[in-house]
Amino acid sequence: MEIKTAEFVVSSQTIATCPKDVKPEYAFIGRSNVGKSSLINMLARNKKLAKTSSTPGKTLLINHFIINKEWYLVDLPGYGFAKRSKSEIARLEQMIRGYILGRQQLVNVFVLVDVRLEPQDIDLEFINWLGLSSIPFSIVFTKADKLTVSKVRANVAAYEQKLMETWEEMPPVFVTSSEKREGREELLSYIAQINDEMKNG
Ligand code: GTP
Ligand code: MG
Repeated sequence: MEIKTAEFVVSSQTIATCPKDVKPEYAFIGRSNVGKSSLINMLARNKKLAKTSSTPGKTLLINHFIINKEWYLVDLPGYGFAKRSKSEIARLEQMIRGYILGRQQLVNVFVLVDVRLEPQDIDLEFINWLGLSSIPFSIVFTKADKLTVSKVRANVAAYEQKLMETWEEMPPVFVTSSEKREGREELLSYIAQINDEMKNG
């Protein structure tokens, strides 16, 4: 799929102020600093679309970007950023969960996982919660440029093994690098395929 236009639409605290139209949307979630905003920019080929930062906790609202005037990419705040007050953590969690459970236009959640790390409890818990809530999701490994190809492969295999302890079926898995633009075609084709299915019923 070609991306012809990518524009910021709105930042929201709750689904009440999200766009009212019924275009399909794809949300990006994961731990703070995992690379959600960078991945959105990589997909859109626009480094200034979503705000990124080397310090965690940059994205604090639900951000809608409209692509080709037809569908949305949604940048969410990260979870698991320790340097925050308990009430702030609870507020962000509520924002994320309220959006994911309540937003009818949401067709797929991309859960981003840093490919360098061993499976983290906080991510596994989040993935389990998505599964139990019947929310369609895929796993996107980020920062693949930071490891050798063979190490990436080994870590992805170990992660799949870990998920198989709980789930019988593997969700779609993507390996990406926003730095090297790796995984872009795969992700965009996957989105295009879902968009087509939605259009043609
Ligand atoms: P929050 O909004 O704070 O939750 O973070 P985020 O998940 O949106 O992360 P963001 O995109 O802001 O990126 C965090 C840091 O990781 C930045 O310094 C990025 O440059 C870096 N980064 C993101 N993706 C990649 C990648 O694929 N490769 C490398 N090497 N660095 C990356
Ligand atoms: Mg961000």
